[in-house]
Amino acid sequence: GLRPAYANMPKLKEKDTYKIGFAQTESNNPWRLQQTKSMQDEAKKRGWQLVYTDAAGSAAKQVADVRSMIAQKVDVILLAPREERPLIPAVMEAKKAGIPLFLIDRGVDPSLAKGGEDYVAFIGSDFVEEGRLAAEALVKAVDGKAKIIELVGTVGSSPANDRAKGFADYIKDHPGMQVIASQSGDFARDKGRQVFETLYQAHPEATALYSHNDEMTMGAIAAMEAAGKVPGKDLIIASIDGTKDAAQALQDGKVVVVVECNPNFGPAAFDAVVKYGKGEAVAPRLVNKDRVFTKENIAAYLPEAY
Ligand code: AHR
Repeated sequence: GLRPAYANMPKLKEKDTYKIGFAQTESNNPWRLQQTKSMQDEAKKRGWQLVYTDAAGSAAKQVADVRSMIAQKVDVILLAPREERPLIPAVMEAKKAGIPLFLIDRGVDPSLAKGGEDYVAFIGSDFVEEGRLAAEALVKAVDGKAKIIELVGTVGSSPANDRAKGFADYIKDHPGMQVIASQSGDFARDKGRQVFETLYQAHPEATALYSHNDEMTMGAIAAMEAAGKVPGKDLIIASIDGTKDAAQALQDGKVVVVVECNPNFGPAAFDAVVKYGKGEAVAPRLVNKDRVFTKENIAAYLPEAY
């Protein structure tokens, strides 16, 4: 029969203030810094204690960070898992220790851990949809014809897997859209620059770039300009996030579309914790609504870009 929701999940006592752990994956990117700031602002606003760790791009360190939060007996853990599989032990150990855990922005392998059973909930964007929206805008911009270089995010992370999938699924029905090279730039600016430079040297026939995040996009733009090419003309660019640099590049005509990935998780995450503490049901998947930025609406967004 049906199991009641959260039957096997750690409970959370209702309190006025909580001690919250936030396990961040890395901080080499304005998106990550904005996400951390959103958590810190929200903790301050509510007078909750925030235990913050930065895994500095290492899944192994992030597992150790969660273990240290368990040892410190935080009330709740908010985890932004770097990769889908290596963080499974952290999720399971928190559950075993009786500490409710929420996945923030990235997911873990759904065949190994489930919302409402192993962790309370996933709160974040629909990355497949982001990839689909990027593809839709790019197809429109290039009239259905492009030779595309794809800069992939961190290998094994849910945004890299899902943004690749959403994009590929959409362009399948557009035979003029061809991904001619695809490689990871690890969601990082300098890696994106290096990888793009190499791929473009090997594929000078490329006419478009699909980049899984704005930092890699900014790196690729630097590589294009160093090669004497004009971003926005020689190569049409689709990107994801909504950083200030990418919003400015869109405004300047270098990028044709930025699909938003909203990093401001503080309010929704802390609200979900309060709800769970009251014993109310929290949906196992809370999806942020993301916008699509083009030259039509970018000016209005720029002031809130981070
Ligand atoms: O998980 C969200 C992604 O991770 C963002 O697109 C990226 O900038 C970050 O590193």
